[in-house]
Amino acid sequence: MLLLRIFLLVVSSDILHVIAWGSIGHNLVARLAQSQLNSTTNNWIQHYIASDLRGDLGRIASWPDLILYPDTNPFDYVHWQWSRDLHYINIPAWNCSYIPSRDCVNDRCIEGALKNYSRRLVDRNSDYVEQQQALIFLVHFLGDIHQPLHSGFKNDQGGNTVKGFFLNGKNLTNLHTIWDVEIIVNRIQRHFQSDVNLYYNHLLTLMLNRSSMINETYNNYEEWVKESVDYVCKQVYLNDNGTRLNVSLNFTLGEEYFNRNWPTVDQRLTQAGWRLATLLNHLAEQRSSTKLPPDMQALIIMACIAIGIFILATIGFYQYKPPEIPDRSPLLAE
Ligand SMILES: *[C@@H]1O[C@H](CO)[C@@H](O)[C@H](O)[C@H]1NC(C)=O
Ligand SMILES: *[C@@H]1O[C@H](CO)[C@@H](O)[C@H](O)[C@H]1NC(C)=O
Ligand SMILES: *[C@@H]1O[C@H](CO)[C@@H](O)[C@H](O)[C@H]1NC(C)=O
Ligand SMILES: *[C@@H]1O[C@H](CO)[C@@H](O)[C@H](O)[C@H]1NC(C)=O
Ligand SMILES: *[C@@H]1O[C@H](CO)[C@@H](O)[C@H](O)[C@H]1NC(C)=O
Ligand SMILES: *[C@@H]1O[C@H](CO)[C@@H](O)[C@H](O)[C@H]1NC(C)=O
Ligand SMILES: *[C@@H]1O[C@H](CO)[C@@H](O)[C@H](O)[C@H]1NC(C)=O
Ligand SMILES: *[C@@H]1O[C@H](CO)[C@@H](O)[C@H](O)[C@H]1NC(C)=O
Ligand SMILES: *[C@@H]1O[C@H](CO)[C@@H](O)[C@H](O)[C@H]1NC(C)=O
Repeated sequence: MLLLRIFLLVVSSDILHVIAWGSIGHNLVARLAQSQLNSTTNNWIQHYIASDLRGDLGRIASWPDLILYPDTNPFDYVHWQWSRDLHYINIPAWNCSYIPSRDCVNDRCIEGALKNYSRRLVDRNSDYVEQQQALIFLVHFLGDIHQPLHSGFKNDQGGNTVKGFFLNGKNLTNLHTIWDVEIIVNRIQRHFQSDVNLYYNHLLTLMLNRSSMINETYNNYEEWVKESVDYVCKQVYLNDNGTRLNVSLNFTLGEEYFNRNWPTVDQRLTQAGWRLATLLNHLAEQRSSTKLPPDMQALIIMACIAIGIFILATIGFYQYKPPEIPDRSPLLAE
């Protein structure tokens, strides 16, 4: 039932929900990663992607956002609220360092979640649904950890309460949304003829050009958080004339802010894609066994029982000999 609900949700929601890289960012990261999966890795993760999604990792990447809100998950959103904290890390404003014992208590943050779900995905004690959930959360949180404002300041909720106007927009927006969605959307509209596939191809080239040169560990989550914190303190909160944005004044961010920051967005999307691929390839090597879906397990057990009965019946048939009739009846021998 859970499984069914998960995928009904994913299939029926092309809604762009404005949180966490938006769905475009998550989709791009997952596609970039999937292009670099070894065939064994790709075959393995296919087990967890519903067949009507045609094996596309990008189609499941936004699910952890969709489950959180009544407009995208009206019947069940309450039950997923526990996962909300796992999408980000909060540090004190302008502290500019990430201290896990302070900022990720009991692992209830994005770094803890990545550790948790990379373990659960390959844990032989997890059942199929748990492993599927682990994969989807991993794909999603690996994107989020690269969005600088998912490692942002506590006092303004990662830029959500820092409001203002972006690129001559008439509607009030906020800093978090600019980084989740608006820089990406404007980059695609202005530089890639509104074609997300052209942008994807560009990112792919960028990723392949850079990543082969980088020596990286596949799971240095803490380092990735620190990179995000660094972007937050050094460029995300600085407006075009170098003053700091804050909650008490509406900002006006223009061309200069966009041009200064889109290269960072490109960089973070490609890093996320590459790192997700490396992580999944690594986990595929680590895993001991893949569990089949429960209905498949039941089917296999039934088939084994049926074959067993057939074999026993066959053996029984060939071994059956009519009881020999003694030459003489013991009674007659008396
Ligand atoms: C898996 O793919 C990566 C590149 O994505 C490659 O470096 C690695 O050697 C591959 N591993 C296997 C076992 O093929
Ligand atoms: C950040 O917080 C830590 C621990 O509270 C402190 O040691 C450090 O000096 C702070 N850094 C800044 C830049 O405020
Ligand atoms: C680990 O995953 C389980 C299952 O989703 C969840 O209940 C738990 O809260 C997670 N813990 C962390 C720290 O992510
Ligand atoms: C601005 O807000 C109005 C009213 O909510 C909406 O109809 C319009 O599409 C928005 N414009 C943009 C560019 O998002
Ligand atoms: C690839 O990377 C090198 C070195 O960083 C750079 O000079 C070159 O322009 C890049 N090529 C592309 C297509 O991005
Ligand atoms: C990558 O690691 C190898 C072996 O540890 C080292 O020789 C090489 O210089 C490193 N390359 C980069 C770009 O750091
Ligand atoms: C917020 O920013 C504005 C413009 O830089 C500044 O005048 C104001 O003092 C700041 N407010 C706080 C509380 O930092
Ligand atoms: C920011 O702009 C909105 C919309 O124009 C306005 O309602 C709000 O009062 C402004 N906030 C501040 C702090 O100036
Ligand atoms: C800084 O730039 C903003 C617009 O981005 C403007 O509203 C503000 O007055 C400027 N502040 C100073 C001190 O120049």
